[in-house]
Amino acid sequence: MEIEDVLIIGSGVAALQLASKLGTDFNVKVLTKSTVRHGNSLLAQGGVAAAVGLNDGPEKHVADTLEAGRFHNDESVVREIVHDGPGLINTFFEIFDKNQEGRLQLGLEGAHSEPRIIHSGGDTTGKNMMEHLIGRMPRNVQVEEDMFTYELIMDQSQNRCIGVKSKDQQGVLHCFYGRHIVLATGGCGQLYSFTSNAQTATGDGIAMAYLAGAEVADMEFIQFHPTLLHINGATKGLISEAVRGEGAVLVTEDGKPVMENVHELKDLAPRHIVSQKIFDCLKSGQRVFLDISGISQFSQRFPSITAMCEQNGVRLSEGRIPVAPGSHFLMGGIKTDLTGRTSIDGLYAIGEVACTGFHGANRLASNSLLEGLYQGKRLAHWIRANKGTDPLAQWSVMDPINLHKKVKFPEVQMLKERMMTHVGIVRSKALLEEQKQWLDQFRMNEIRGLDTYSVRELTTIFMGITASLMTEAALNRTESRGGHFRSDFPFEDDQKWSEKTIIHKYKGEV
Ligand code: SIN
Repeated sequence: MEIEDVLIIGSGVAALQLASKLGTDFNVKVLTKSTVRHGNSLLAQGGVAAAVGLNDGPEKHVADTLEAGRFHNDESVVREIVHDGPGLINTFFEIFDKNQEGRLQLGLEGAHSEPRIIHSGGDTTGKNMMEHLIGRMPRNVQVEEDMFTYELIMDQSQNRCIGVKSKDQQGVLHCFYGRHIVLATGGCGQLYSFTSNAQTATGDGIAMAYLAGAEVADMEFIQFHPTLLHINGATKGLISEAVRGEGAVLVTEDGKPVMENVHELKDLAPRHIVSQKIFDCLKSGQRVFLDISGISQFSQRFPSITAMCEQNGVRLSEGRIPVAPGSHFLMGGIKTDLTGRTSIDGLYAIGEVACTGFHGANRLASNSLLEGLYQGKRLAHWIRANKGTDPLAQWSVMDPINLHKKVKFPEVQMLKERMMTHVGIVRSKALLEEQKQWLDQFRMNEIRGLDTYSVRELTTIFMGITASLMTEAALNRTESRGGHFRSDFPFEDDQKWSEKTIIHKYKGEV
């Protein structure tokens, strides 16, 4: 059998940074269920945060990250990543927007005490960074698109991951083997009916790793972005926080400022606070708008947002954009150390699918591209120093028995709507228990013989498993912190919870 040095599942910024930093000495295969030019990294608008401003410094950035994360972060991880920030963004210097003196233009976003959001093309930062990485990809990196990975092949005797099973567009099964298997599959925003995320963010990596026995942590912490374009009861995409950074103000239909007397940072308060406030307004029947009338040259500064608004019939000349909050980022995920190592040998996780402890209970805006760049670089260094060993040649790859049985699948749209109402911006014991009961009837993590399911069915299974992990973690955390707000426990409870992380580990056969 053919064995890759490094098998990367997913193709966002963290994945491509890893592939490019590995250089040309390794066989690297990237498997992506869609295409390299699809996914959340490409949608990133605001930018990438790094403390490069004249009045800024890494320790200020550290303090803001901890404050936004409500001190649930791993402080040493925060310090390490943030201090590396200025060096990490240097490689991309040529693509970032500059002022007339040739210095980086620095935007402001919520909960940052200094302007430190570096951007490209105004609001197409993620896309431009991805193109930069794609354009410089070493020739030895082989990319297989439309390849949906659904199972980790384990050598159980050693608690070691040795490969993956994937299906192509025709549903044909392929097995891939590697000395190092890296999950970079992104988050799970598509579990919610209101989301800024790409269609592909369905929690696959988390569910796969969980089923293989990896530890999964902090699943109750979901970030809801306050401002998604809101048209006819549906959300259509992100309106970057950088828009508020440039002076836009959240207002009700009759022009009253929404964030007045809510938080000292007003419209640039931490995201969970702004989202909760807008949620309250919408619940009471009020509509909420971003008043952009104070921003001169809006369409030049935010070209892709302008295009999205125009496509959806919003007349920017009227100076208002209708908005609603929606799921944006998962702070939790597969538990890893700073190098990306999981609790399974040979298996690594980087990017949004991983939980390093950097983001704590709520991610500081524009810290995710930064984390992805750091993780890709650091794991590449580690792999270069640890070549890895071959998986056992005699390993049998197919499921010995096909246990396919009739399964009742949740209806996906209903799952998404229920996650929004029951495990959304405001949670409670009653709502969470109701959702747990609803999810439990499908018994998604008891399904065996995954080979026999279609890609669509597998995606639903993974959404169901990930939803269950989130619901259970949210039920267990009896306090409010960052992205997790419980109306029945509305305050942080430091005595009980400040140090505690909720970890899930699959118990195996049921
Ligand atoms: C935004 O542009 O508002 C999103 C940036 C981020 O979530 O980091």
